[in-house]
Amino acid sequence: MFEHVDIYPGDPILTLNETFIADPRAGKINLGIGVYLNEASKLPVMGAVLKAETALLANPGIRPYLPMEGAPSYRKQVQRLLFGADAPALAEQRVATAQTVGGSGALKVGADFLAAYFKQAEVWICDPTWDNHRAIFAGAGFTVHSYPYYSAAIQHVDFAAMQAALNAVPAGDIVVLHACCHNPTGADLSEAQWRELAKTISSRKLLPFFDIAYQGFGGGIDADAFAIRHFVAEGIPLLVASSFSKNFSLYGERCGSLSIVCDDAQEAANVLGQLKAAIRRNYSSPPTHGARIVATVLENPELAADWSGELDAMRGRIQAMREGLYAQLRALRPERDFEYLIKQSGMFSYTGLTVAQVRKLREESAIYLLESGRVCIAALTRETLAPVAAAIAKVLD
Ligand code: LMR
Repeated sequence: MFEHVDIYPGDPILTLNETFIADPRAGKINLGIGVYLNEASKLPVMGAVLKAETALLANPGIRPYLPMEGAPSYRKQVQRLLFGADAPALAEQRVATAQTVGGSGALKVGADFLAAYFKQAEVWICDPTWDNHRAIFAGAGFTVHSYPYYSAAIQHVDFAAMQAALNAVPAGDIVVLHACCHNPTGADLSEAQWRELAKTISSRKLLPFFDIAYQGFGGGIDADAFAIRHFVAEGIPLLVASSFSKNFSLYGERCGSLSIVCDDAQEAANVLGQLKAAIRRNYSSPPTHGARIVATVLENPELAADWSGELDAMRGRIQAMREGLYAQLRALRPERDFEYLIKQSGMFSYTGLTVAQVRKLREESAIYLLESGRVCIAALTRETLAPVAAAIAKVLD
């Protein structure tokens, strides 16, 4: 019956993570998957999360099915975080928000919704982008194209090429944008460039779909939401997929959301209805636990302040690792330019290492990077900096 089923070649991120786990070598270092580790090389349990979870455990309550669109308290907090507590679009009730199974779930529900209501549209993703973007949109039936984004020559965004390409995209097409902490490159647009891009998107009548999986890891909660808030202020209809995996360290709880900013409350109500239909077709309704943790933290001013302070510290640690790796590599290979490490932002940097060099790091030093050359800076520690820098310096030509 199943003879014709193909072998799964694996996922460039999740399968590599499985390979890492199975690697028996002591001292192996995982800089592949995008997770934040603390100085002890462990996934942190944030203090605010622990307090919220302890409170929930003391009063566990019943576990009914959540509504298809998720828990109201969670959805409200998500909106405040993404759009700003005082956003007029929220007061006008023109944002449809659904709780989803992680950021991937948000992209999938969004893609299904778009496939039903924007049948003529095609999807544009940046080159390079998170590996799953193409798969999710193609899987929903879209033709997926890419637009230029990162230039290895300047080790940054080639904004002129990006603008030129998007200026030629047909009206009504969907453009996927990373709101902050670009994955995989760590190279973001400046606020001035976002303003320029908003003009292009608006004049070309394109539909932006923001992916924001690292809010708080770039410049802070509000700074990282700049692009989304600016586009909303400019009156541009848009979609946003968000995730609490990283900024709450709640990876396995699969806490995400999808928001669609509409023209008015009636449109938003209709859109939310169709999101519910898409969710019902996929998984009926989202899980309770992670959403209860997030809502408990964000609804309580004291816990929210604790969380925000912890997030600031995580961001500071990532920055220290960037600077540390930069300093060590510069000392080891002074003839080379590592400026990109301190110019890039968020969890990742794009090292420019080739597939052969990445494989050599894995085989000879048990150091795992993605084969694209993406390194997860947020998984480095003061202890691993020196061996990682030495191994990278050694594999460079
Ligand atoms: C990553 O990019 O490594 C993370 O977002 C994890 C994932 O699901 O790919």
